[in-house]
Amino acid sequence: MSERLGRAQALMTLQEWTKGDSLRKHGMAVSVCTEAYGVMEAERLGLRGTDADEFVDLYASAGLLHDMDYERHPTQEEHPFVGVNHLREVGWPESVLQAILAHADYSGVARESHLERALFACDELAGFLTACALVKPNKSILEVEVAGVKKKMKDKAFARAVKREDITGGAELLGLTVEEHVGICLRAMQARAEELGLAGVASVET
Ligand SMILES: [Fe+2]
Repeated sequence: MSERLGRAQALMTLQEWTKGDSLRKHGMAVSVCTEAYGVMEAERLGLRGTDADEFVDLYASAGLLHDMDYERHPTQEEHPFVGVNHLREVGWPESVLQAILAHADYSGVARESHLERALFACDELAGFLTACALVKPNKSILEVEVAGVKKKMKDKAFARAVKREDITGGAELLGLTVEEHVGICLRAMQARAEELGLAGVASVET
């Protein structure tokens, strides 16, 4: 009998497949944001105890795993398909696999479930919030505010690789305003700033 798959296994898989620090941190940041939506959805569904924990764990795991194969297989022919094939063999539930497939526009998999929508919505935003933190004096996510993020979204020269339309489209998919979506993800990342390596340069020295 195999142990139930959850975030601990997801983190191990991410670390096994991905050696680069920034891609690992990206997986962790997306996980923290996606997990926040899992908590909200579990509450909406009235889940309690173990049911809620297992439900939320799938959100956190999908975040950790969504780019797990990107370092080894970055092309559109392979990412995220190689990773999903591996995860399927290991026994990850289809809900997680479909969310990972659906985060890539070119996979042709529609974003229908709440998890599929949440993962897509958090992917670009987590990267953008990280970029916003790294230009702050103390390089801390705790210094970032929603209004500042919105302003930076309009600045095309800032973090130009981040697709703004994926952030706004993701919020729309979740039935939220961009402010609400940014606020939820920002608070989630702030609450776990240390773990994400975004608690600021001063705190590293103390
Ligand atoms: Fe990603």
